[in-house]
Amino acid sequence: MSKDKVDIFDTTLRDGEQVPGCKLDAEQKLVIAERLDELGVDIIEAGFPISSPGDFNSVNEIAKLVKNAAVCGLTRAVRKDIEVAAEALKPAKKPRIHTGIGTSDSHIRHKFNSDRESIIERAVAAVSYAKSFVEDVEFYAEDAGRTDNEFLARVCEAVVKAGATVLNIPDTTGYCLPEEYGAKIRYLKENVTGVHKATLSCHCHNDLGLATANSIAGVVNGARQIECTINGIGERAGNTSLEEVVMILRQHPTLGLDTNINSKLLYDTSRMVSEKMGMIVQPNKAIVGANAFAHSSGIHQDGVIKNRETYEIIDPADVGVNESSIVLTARSGRAALAYRAKLVGYELTKLQLDEVYQEFLKFADRKKEILDSDIHEIIEATELDIES
Ligand code: KIV
Ligand code: ZN
Repeated sequence: MSKDKVDIFDTTLRDGEQVPGCKLDAEQKLVIAERLDELGVDIIEAGFPISSPGDFNSVNEIAKLVKNAAVCGLTRAVRKDIEVAAEALKPAKKPRIHTGIGTSDSHIRHKFNSDRESIIERAVAAVSYAKSFVEDVEFYAEDAGRTDNEFLARVCEAVVKAGATVLNIPDTTGYCLPEEYGAKIRYLKENVTGVHKATLSCHCHNDLGLATANSIAGVVNGARQIECTINGIGERAGNTSLEEVVMILRQHPTLGLDTNINSKLLYDTSRMVSEKMGMIVQPNKAIVGANAFAHSSGIHQDGVIKNRETYEIIDPADVGVNESSIVLTARSGRAALAYRAKLVGYELTKLQLDEVYQEFLKFADRKKEILDSDIHEIIEATELDIES
């Protein structure tokens, strides 16, 4: 079955880098941008050029460096922002300006002290102005998640008419339920005149832990771009995690959707970003966490040793992890112990295994995890004559 392509818009260097304590220097940003290009992302959001001279320079350097992906700069719906972004993006092979404004009643009232009609005017003016610099203009309707669908459709229609090539529908506050977010995308697909001229994009935050589910609901309902970050880093509880959406689409071919991402680079990219940002990846993080392919209970270990597919839905090699690991703890069984003992050079008979296992349990009750070096000690403690 031929698959529809979903574009991956990576915002690790913009929305991701806004996280307290995650600041990157210019050199680190370049190394990450180069890796994102190699990974196969379609668009790299390199920064917010008007925000500081440092950010302007990074966007400009990334624009010079990147070979394949489009390079994007964020702006508010403000002329000066757009001029500065256009200048920073000048060297890019494929420049994109990402401009927009808040569209929810809360943003209109509290942030802009404005009204709906004036917001549409400002949105259209920003897109038209950005269009005078670059062909590819993405419009974001900030807080679209809490914007009423009818008004959101009016905003989208107006900016598409002004030349927007991408319509970003951010769930800025991570508020929506997947069904609701999916229905919002479907509503826009069905009610915005001229929507076929633009790509609908999902930009979901993770305040309720639903960013990935919402993004998937978005593409299932017609969006064809997902905005995400490596390791899901980003404002507050973070953004949609790139590795999660990529692998969900790959593991569910019946959705008929796929990306251009080289999944074998996912694990290494996750480690690289984590190290450079000084932001640890939680061990139980899907796809790239240290425990994502580690099995520790006896029942699971026995199954995985017999056949990996009993407890693994992804081949670790597909995401760049060498192999699954069998972690020895007090919950492990004989099969796991025999397996790990064999890896360090001991071929145990059934009788030997029974005895070594009793010794192992005493050790394991004292230690959280049994390492390879402990296995030698355990075997020696049995006083059996077992050669490695
Ligand atoms: O979350 C959001 O609404 C954003 C926009 C600026 C795109 O990051
Ligand atoms: Zn965001």
